[in-house]
Amino acid sequence: MTALRIAVLASGRGSNLKALIDAIASGELAAEIVGVFSDKAGSGALTIAREHGLVACFLDPKSFASRAEFDRALFAAVDAKRPELIVLAGFMRVLSDEVVAPRSARMINIHPSLLPKYPGLHTHRRALEAGDAEHGATVHYVIPALDAGPVIAQTRIAIEAGDTPESLAAKLLPKEHALLVSVMRNFVQHRPAE
Ligand code: GRF
Repeated sequence: MTALRIAVLASGRGSNLKALIDAIASGELAAEIVGVFSDKAGSGALTIAREHGLVACFLDPKSFASRAEFDRALFAAVDAKRPELIVLAGFMRVLSDEVVAPRSARMINIHPSLLPKYPGLHTHRRALEAGDAEHGATVHYVIPALDAGPVIAQTRIAIEAGDTPESLAAKLLPKEHALLVSVMRNFVQHRPAE
């Protein structure tokens, strides 16, 4: 079976990207990362991509006249690598409907909350402030609305006395990584026969 071709879009430190790289290297995930794309020149994700000899592509939003133009250029670069699946792993830009809608069925996002709770930012703080007993992360299909597509899978952690946004983030992160890898394994297993 050939490896599933995946493109990763990331703005931040890239720990989810690293989890995918490690799962591929260990043989746990039969995939190939065909490119890493970022809107942040100094992102950890791009550094990790380069360290692993992956295609690392930075597009500067400031050099485009509009969001739509940036998005078109970004997805022209992504499409050129012919990914079967596009993974948003900490990609911190809202994407325009024009680029999302045609790719919804093969674009997924990992979000650090139990969606539909807490789309957007500061999810750990918001879960604490709401007095929730549990928190978690969600992998979902991307649709034009932010953090709102159909849920594929979730992982949960208990919120304990004394937890802070930082402690929740630290407890959740390894579970996020495992969730993303397990969802990707399902994609590999259930993809149409060649
Ligand atoms: C993760 O918490 C992810 O769920 C969120 O942004 C964070 C990215 O972390 N969307 P990293 O860049 O993969 O380390």
